[in-house]
Amino acid sequence: MDQIRIIGGAPLNGLVEVSGAKNAALPILAASLLGGGECIIDHVPQVRDLITMGKLLALLGVEVQTEGSRVVMEASKVQSIEAPYDLVKTMRASILALGPLLTRLGEAKVSLPGGCAIGTRPVNLHLKGLAMMGAEVEVEHGYIHAKARRLKGARIDLDFPTVTGTENLIMAACLAEGTTSLHHVAREPEIADLCAFLTKRGAKILGAGTDTIIIEGVSELHGAKHEVMPDRVEAGTFVMAGAITGGDITVKGCISDHLGTVFTKIQEMGVELTEHSEGVRVRRSGPLKAVEVKTLPYPGFPTDLQAQMMALMSVADGTSILTETIFEGRFLHVPELHRMGASIEIDGPHAVVKGIPVLTGAPVMASDLRASAGLVLAGLAAEGETTISRVYHLDRGYERLEEKLKAVGAQVERVREVV
Ligand code: EPZ
Repeated sequence: MDQIRIIGGAPLNGLVEVSGAKNAALPILAASLLGGGECIIDHVPQVRDLITMGKLLALLGVEVQTEGSRVVMEASKVQSIEAPYDLVKTMRASILALGPLLTRLGEAKVSLPGGCAIGTRPVNLHLKGLAMMGAEVEVEHGYIHAKARRLKGARIDLDFPTVTGTENLIMAACLAEGTTSLHHVAREPEIADLCAFLTKRGAKILGAGTDTIIIEGVSELHGAKHEVMPDRVEAGTFVMAGAITGGDITVKGCISDHLGTVFTKIQEMGVELTEHSEGVRVRRSGPLKAVEVKTLPYPGFPTDLQAQMMALMSVADGTSILTETIFEGRFLHVPELHRMGASIEIDGPHAVVKGIPVLTGAPVMASDLRASAGLVLAGLAAEGETTISRVYHLDRGYERLEEKLKAVGAQVERVREVV
């Protein structure tokens, strides 16, 4: 398994460009299942999760061609209804095939995604919503088996604003009979991007980006062209890389509106963020200051930037409090940060982070995608060498991260494991 080796202490300077959003591209590619006609998707990040999604779609009968960041799909010949365990276990977002397969073919058999490092990750709300639209849903032998001659529009109030749950139900409703009103849905920008693509395909959707979405079912969807929005989590990660190293970088392709609460907190820490034509410029003159952060559904502080924020807090002046309200197990980066000298105490969903002047480099292990990013930030600021193992976690969601960081002055390299 590859490792990333970082010699910390170099301030980052220059321009870094954000790739397409992984968590928008995943539902958008899955939406190809909803009907025939050529779908041309641009600005797709070249990361492992999207490669896995492409494999799953091809297995289901979608014609998939990838040329760089362009993915061309044609799904008139989808005939399989099954998303198998050996693929789903490598990428939980495979659950996004459930809604489209069920509403397009009247049946879907999708392996239960199972938990992952950050939590149990149930999908009960996905299934409850589909059942309310008339699906017969059974869960046995590790598989979700859903059937419905044709889904019927319904009013669905979600217990929790689940992101992929919202996306599954929107896609299912596109071809349902009648109107579906979804309430208390997630408002992440990736959902609005999915809705923009579906609307280009002929879907009738109102309220994208709000907590109430109305979908009027249509008989079929046609092909369309779409460019995926920039990745706000990658953008936030680079802004924090500039903040933790005390350099002067510009993050290109970043949409500030998508990171409102994140930027407010980073500015509270004493970092100067200025927006200009090229993107968001990140500078810091004094020490980082401690802050309090609580992760919340959008537009609150995103859980996907929690580990990265914790790295920043680890070297801030004073004591910060970070509360994780979305996933019960999302503190796996803490023991690794301890190895680098960080002073963090966990108390249930709260992490009390006593800032220290400098972290020290150490061998650490990535446990999940965003924890890996937090460890990279810590390594960039630490004294000495940090080697991060199991970087396949990082490769799931960051495109050429070490190359992008090296281009703005980081002393970082990927050490390929000699097999
Ligand atoms: C999406 O996951 C993202 N993944 C995650 O990003 C992100 O962390 C998460 O939303 C929260 O923003 C993709 O979009 C592919 P949820 P998702 O359903 O949809 C509970 C990354 O690093 N819940 O919004 O799986 C659940 O247990 C990944 O890119 C239920 O109880 O998250 C959790 O506590 C990690 N029942 C909370 O809701 C359900 O049926 C949020 O989960 C569904 C969810």
